[in-house]
Amino acid sequence: MKTAELRQAFLEYFRQQGHTVVPSSSLVPHDDPTLLFTNAGMNQFKDVFLGRETRDYTRAATSQKCVRAGGKHNDLENVGYTARHHTFFEMLGNFSFGDYFKREAIHYAWTFLTGEQWLNLPQEKLWVTVYAEDDEAYNIWKDEIGVPAERIVRIGDNKGARYASDNFWQMGDTGPCGPCTEIFYDHGPEVAGGPPGSPDEDGDRYIEIWNVVFMQYNRTADGEMLKLPKPSVDTGMGLERIAAVLQGVHSNYEIDLFQDLLNAASEVLGGVPTTEASLRVVADHIRSCAFLIADGVMPSNEGRGFVLRRIIRRAARHGNKLGAREPFFYRLTDALVKLMGEAYPQLVSSQKQIEKVLLQEEEQFAKTLDKGLRLLEQDIAQLKGTVIPGETIFTLYDTYGFPVDLTNDIARERGLTLDYEGYEAAMEQQRERARAASKFSIDYNATGLSLDGRTEFTGYERIDGHETIRAVLVDGEARNAQAGDEAVVVLERTPFYAESGGQVGDTGLLTWSGGRFQVTDTRKEGDNHLHIGTVLEGEIFPGLEVDARIDHARRERIKRNHSATHLLHAALRKVLGEHVSQKGSLVDPDKLRFDFSHFEAVTPEQLREIEREVNEQVLANTPVQIEITDIDTAREKGAMALFGEKYGDTVRVLTMGTDNYSIELCGGTHVARTGDIGLFRITSESGISAGVRRIEAVTGLGALAWVEETERALRETGKLVKATRDTLAEKVQQLLDRNRQLEKEVDTLKARLASSAGNDLAASAVDVAGLKVVAAQLDGADRKALMETADQLKNKLGEGVVVLATVEEGKVILVAGVTKSATSRIKAGDIMKHLAAQVDGKGGGRPDMAQGGGSDPSRLAEALAGVPEWVEKNIA
Ligand code: ALA
Repeated sequence: MKTAELRQAFLEYFRQQGHTVVPSSSLVPHDDPTLLFTNAGMNQFKDVFLGRETRDYTRAATSQKCVRAGGKHNDLENVGYTARHHTFFEMLGNFSFGDYFKREAIHYAWTFLTGEQWLNLPQEKLWVTVYAEDDEAYNIWKDEIGVPAERIVRIGDNKGARYASDNFWQMGDTGPCGPCTEIFYDHGPEVAGGPPGSPDEDGDRYIEIWNVVFMQYNRTADGEMLKLPKPSVDTGMGLERIAAVLQGVHSNYEIDLFQDLLNAASEVLGGVPTTEASLRVVADHIRSCAFLIADGVMPSNEGRGFVLRRIIRRAARHGNKLGAREPFFYRLTDALVKLMGEAYPQLVSSQKQIEKVLLQEEEQFAKTLDKGLRLLEQDIAQLKGTVIPGETIFTLYDTYGFPVDLTNDIARERGLTLDYEGYEAAMEQQRERARAASKFSIDYNATGLSLDGRTEFTGYERIDGHETIRAVLVDGEARNAQAGDEAVVVLERTPFYAESGGQVGDTGLLTWSGGRFQVTDTRKEGDNHLHIGTVLEGEIFPGLEVDARIDHARRERIKRNHSATHLLHAALRKVLGEHVSQKGSLVDPDKLRFDFSHFEAVTPEQLREIEREVNEQVLANTPVQIEITDIDTAREKGAMALFGEKYGDTVRVLTMGTDNYSIELCGGTHVARTGDIGLFRITSESGISAGVRRIEAVTGLGALAWVEETERALRETGKLVKATRDTLAEKVQQLLDRNRQLEKEVDTLKARLASSAGNDLAASAVDVAGLKVVAAQLDGADRKALMETADQLKNKLGEGVVVLATVEEGKVILVAGVTKSATSRIKAGDIMKHLAAQVDGKGGGRPDMAQGGGSDPSRLAEALAGVPEWVEKNIA
């Protein structure tokens, strides 16, 4: 069975068991910051498992594109070295959302694998594993399915922690998870490896083909296992692995799809043998790279883009090993699109873009690849021992763009290992250097500015002052600055707040007779405040006395946002719980941003409650109290201090709100009374990493502007649908309902059209050797309508053959049916193969029903006309 037919058969089997066939989701998971790439079929249903979302079905089946090349499930380094690991693969899966559970899930899997009409695999070749504690699954396998006890293996927590087990599946560090049962296929004694749970289980003999997960828990960031609302099922079967089993080969790379890709790669690389491990790497990598680019990922130096870059570079390096001296990788796109474009049309539409991106990345990498390889070869030649030093790994990375896993790949080929610690240390030194080289840092020795020097900050009470200049630096050197110069100015005393604790630095003006200096930012270096900016007029030099004045209006906005941040922090702890702690914050004139630990999205109701809490404190208009004390006294009072932060001998304690609503240690500037905040509005809530949420909010006039903007949007939408603010939701709902109703009507009309066409068709049947044969094109029908009409026609004909076709968006869709009684004489699958080939396509299926498609509609009429004759020739 070809890979494409297998994909179809799986979906068809589960469709017959009442599952809705859902399209693959993008490789880039939307709205899920815990996930780098889509790595399992269940990802798109995560919220359904968690009970946060409902769909209009409780059973689904998919063929999902997956990438496992980063994050929790990462197979990159194994690719090319085993028979079964890929960066990209397709996962076939069936899902139950609180519908069926263990019994049905196991029976379905078994029937599909061993059923005569389906894959018909020999039962004695199959092994199963169950989670050690899962007697229920064990008993179903043993007593109901009849798998002999010696081929059922119990696997416990074999990975060093509670629930850390090959038979306990989890999507990531957090999220849905549960015990699983896995089905293995024994490739036979000629392949090395032992059964699951044995010491050589990692060999290629016993291959896991299907994982059936009993979803029961949601794992939180703190490792808590919360029960899911309803026990559910999530399964995954690697399409390539099961294809290998069915095609009687022992490696995924020997299946039809990979053979075609390997041949294409061999051709592009001047005929290298298709058995080369490096060629396998290339053939594997073109799939992940092309699919990632089609889903919008671009090579870059961080996150998803960096993973893509690493894969492309790994492919380029293996191509280089095989003798490629020109960019070659991008040229495989065409072969891939031919092989997989039908199942994944966006590959076709993105082909040009994929080629362009790959070519560019290859060209860029080629410039340094040779030099880098030479450097590495030299180092390896001189190496004493078997460890490549950290400095070399770092230079390769920093100067030649070699991702560390690439260097590791090369090392592994020579039986060498890497000094990761040395590499990390070199990386850290580099970061230090970068920090030191930043534009505004100061070489204290050169300037005479001593680290002990300290700027006195007057900005808690004052917004201006007459002050003396202590130092002026231009390009990091102590010298006088003239009009037009960018400079850093240090004062003995200043009202300018220097960026810290998330609050941005002040801006403002220094003026003196005949001169002005515009301060665009204030930062701290040691205990000195650095006023960064430009001389607008005159000359500025040490000893000069200036009037320093901050941008007062801006500071007021910052103060409102900062005080509101404290109230927000306290409100979060009150509404969500004491586990909430600050993970980061930013306070600027326009908004406040607060990151905090919390394991799930804050609900709209909670957000409203939090907002109300804060606004109540604002309205209470209590004075903000500031006290300087020591850290122990502050802690006793219950002040929130940041974990890991260093505090000096004295600390500043800020108390605000009714009944000491918020007590925090803080060096920032704040309003005098909470009422000064005016109004507080939350503008967004999102997740930024596992267990960390982010809230953004506005205050004062900013909040007013935000409210006005919302109102304007409502007004404009209202105008479009002719509704007022109060009737808007209802009106939109009506429109949506109407739309849904129209869609339904269109479906009904289509079905009616097709079925009336069906009546006419029955009359047009011709007799061939005692069978009634109908072959016709139904314009305007889709695949579903064709299937339904074919079923109806089969009933009408009694005994016969039905072939129906239609053309949709330039592609041919084909359906063939044979009445059950006639399947011994002729098979729908055979008719389909013959037919599809004529329209430049493929197809196949069961004896009584088969499907297919093709890309050449111009030959459809002729192909259909030839059906009776073909039946006559081929009938038994
Ligand atoms: N989600 C399960 C897996 O990926 C089925 O193995």
